[in-house]
Amino acid sequence: MQVKYDFSGKNVILIGGTTGIGRATALAFAGAGANLYVSGLGADLGKGLKEDVKPFGVEIEFEEVDVRDGKAMKALHENAFARFGRIDIAFNNAGVPGKTAPVHELEDADYDLLMDVNLRGIFNGLRYQVPHMAAKGGGAIVNTSSLFGVMGFATTAVYCASKWGVIGLTSSVALEVARKNIRVNAIAPGSVMTPLLRGMFGSEQSARDTVLPMIPMGRISDPSEIAQLVLFLASDAASFITGQAVVIDGGGFVAGADQL
Ligand SMILES: NC(=O)c1ccc[n+]([C@@H]2O[C@H](COP(=O)([O-])OP(=O)(O)OC[C@H]3O[C@@H](n4cnc5c(N)ncnc54)[C@H](O)[C@@H]3O)[C@@H](O)[C@H]2O)c1
Repeated sequence: MQVKYDFSGKNVILIGGTTGIGRATALAFAGAGANLYVSGLGADLGKGLKEDVKPFGVEIEFEEVDVRDGKAMKALHENAFARFGRIDIAFNNAGVPGKTAPVHELEDADYDLLMDVNLRGIFNGLRYQVPHMAAKGGGAIVNTSSLFGVMGFATTAVYCASKWGVIGLTSSVALEVARKNIRVNAIAPGSVMTPLLRGMFGSEQSARDTVLPMIPMGRISDPSEIAQLVLFLASDAASFITGQAVVIDGGGFVAGADQL
């Protein structure tokens, strides 16, 4: 059963929306009546998303922008603000798994990729979204961290560091805007079957073999389940929630070392 949200007349900027969790969330917002300004890598994937959103009868634009590029991110936000006049909701979701290896096997380029996409990318969203929402009287922002943003995991040290950083950004910016009617929260998903999870562990099978023993609910989540959390945090149902990182992981975090 899925809860029905009503985002009619709301405008959402969704960054990292071409595949996986971002794509599922774009479809969920569209299904709830929101207009979308989507960004991410993959012009063809963006085109495909636009086609899939059409039946919902909402407005959707797509721009391929690399979140590491501050100038391009500024232009993306200016375009989105101009297109819709007001952005009510932002979902900063772009991320990469990077190289899965012990820390001594990582190069500068591995570190830079993870920190630049997963952390600088969120910074490059927040810095343009906050002043716009403040000027328009409010909004809601959701950033994608990870279960690996609240725990460590051998062979993903820099990925974990980038995701812990997202929670630092989220909680601090939430405090900066708490009196401006802007809420800022993070999601911290456990394992979700997406291209990123397959990339992190080499293949779908190897992802399953690695993570399933750590999930008390005994399954890997579907991106649509994560989308429901994003919609909740973006909705008025979450009107007193800010600065939080909400773990959504089938019980893995609370099970702790018992599962390892
Ligand atoms: N899949 C999981 O198990 C899991 C768990 C926890 C957190 N996450 C996080 O969820 C988010 C979405 O990941 P996903 O699992 O849906 O994977 P995904 O690979 O399907 O999606 C990643 C999205 O980020 C975009 N992206 C990647 N690099 C980019 C760049 N340089 N500039 C702009 N966009 C870029 C991609 O185009 C895509 O839209 C990521 O931040 C990821 O770290 C995923």
